[in-house]
Amino acid sequence: MNRYIKIVVCLAFFVITSVVYGFSSGPVPGRTGAPGELTCVDCHDSFELNRGSGRVDILDLPKTYSPGQRIKVRVSVQQNNQKLWGFQLTALDSQEKAVGQFVITDPIKTQQLTDNGRFYVEHTKEGSKSTQPRSMEWTFDWIAPDVDQGAVTFYASGNAADGLGNSEGDFIYTTSAQVGAPSDPVITLGSPSGGEVIQGGKPFTIKWSSTNALSHDILIQLNGLTDIPKTIASGLASNTQEFLWSVPANIPTMRARIIVVAQGANSRADSDVSDKDFTILAGQQIPGPTITNIKVTEKKLTVEGSGFTLQTLITVNGIAFNSPPKLNSTASTLTQKGTATNGNTVGQLIPSKSTVRLLFVNPDGGVTEKLYTRP
Ligand code: HEC
Repeated sequence: MNRYIKIVVCLAFFVITSVVYGFSSGPVPGRTGAPGELTCVDCHDSFELNRGSGRVDILDLPKTYSPGQRIKVRVSVQQNNQKLWGFQLTALDSQEKAVGQFVITDPIKTQQLTDNGRFYVEHTKEGSKSTQPRSMEWTFDWIAPDVDQGAVTFYASGNAADGLGNSEGDFIYTTSAQVGAPSDPVITLGSPSGGEVIQGGKPFTIKWSSTNALSHDILIQLNGLTDIPKTIASGLASNTQEFLWSVPANIPTMRARIIVVAQGANSRADSDVSDKDFTILAGQQIPGPTITNIKVTEKKLTVEGSGFTLQTLITVNGIAFNSPPKLNSTASTLTQKGTATNGNTVGQLIPSKSTVRLLFVNPDGGVTEKLYTRP
C-alpha cells in the first residue's frame, strides 16, 4: 500500500468512527446480562438490578424460527416518572455463541455493535428520547441462521433513566426470551379456548394443532391459571389433533382451563392453555353401553355387548372414524370398518401388541371407556 492510500484509509476510518460514535453515544457493548456479561449496573449503580417498579421486555418473538427467517423484534422499557430510556440486546445459541444477524431498520433510534464475537443492538442518543410518558420502544430485525442451530436466547438489559445526564438515579432491568429451533414442537389449543359452558357427564372434544410433536398430553386446571394441573390423558400419538374427553359429572367449576402439551425430540416441549376460564356444569353420569367382547382385524373392529344405538360412535385414542359403525339387527354387535379421520385403517390404529383407549359414545351422552390390548 503506498503512503497516499494509507493516509486516505486512516482518514476515512477516523471520519467513519467519529461519525458513528459521535452520533450514537450508546453504552459500551457486553452489558446485556447474558452469560459472561455484566449489566448497565456496572456504571448505573444507584439501585440494584431489577429492583424498581419498571421492566424491560423482548416482544413479538415467534415460538420457533425457520432457517433464514427474518423476524421483527420489539424491545420495550417502562417505568413511571422516568425520562430517558436505553437498552442493549444480544442473541446467543445454547453454547453461548452469537447466532443469526441483526438488521437495523430504524437507524435514528438503534445501532449495532460487535464485540468479542457477539453482536449487539442498542439505543442511540436520539433513541433514548421517548415521545410518550412512562415507556420507550425500539424495533429491529433478526435474521435466523440458514441452518438449524438449536434454540436461540435473546438477552436484553434496559435503563429507565431520570434524564439528568449522568449515570445516577437510573433503574436497570434485565430479561431473556427464547425462540425454539425449527425442529422444536409447537402447539396451539383450539378448543376449549375459554368462555364455553360444558355439560359434565358428557363427552367434549378437545382440539389443537401441533407440529414436530412426538406425543401429546392433556391436563386440566379446575381453579384458574394458578391451580395445579391434573392429567386427563398422556402419550397421545404424534398425529393426534383432537381428543374426545368424557367430562366427569362431579367436577363443576366456573374456572376451568385445559392445557395441551406437545412433547418433541431432545426433551423439547411446548404447551398452550385456554385463553380464558370455561365452565363445567355438574351433570348426572349417564350409563354408556356395556362391552362384553372386542375383536380387531386389519380392516374391522367388532364389538359385542348391549346398550348400543344406531348412533353409537367409536373412537380410538380419541380419534373418530369417517363413517359410523354398523349395528346388527339384535343391537348386540357394532362393526366398525373404513378409515379414521387421520386416514388410518382399524389395523393401523390398533397395531398388534398395542394398547388403545376405546370410547363408545351414545347420543344421550352415555360413554363407556375400555382399554384394549390387541393380541
Ligand atoms: C461504562 C459505564 C457505563 C455503562 C456500562 C453504561 N452506561 Fe449509560 N451512561 C454512562 C454515563 C457516564 C452516562 C452519562 C453521560 C452520557 O450520557 O454519556 C450514561 C447515560 C446513560 C443514559 C442517559 C441517562 C440520563 O439520565 O440522562 C442512558 C439511557 C444510558 N446511559 C443507558 C445505558 C444502558 C441501557 C446501559 C447498559 C446496556 C448503560 N447505559 C451502560 C455510563 C455507562
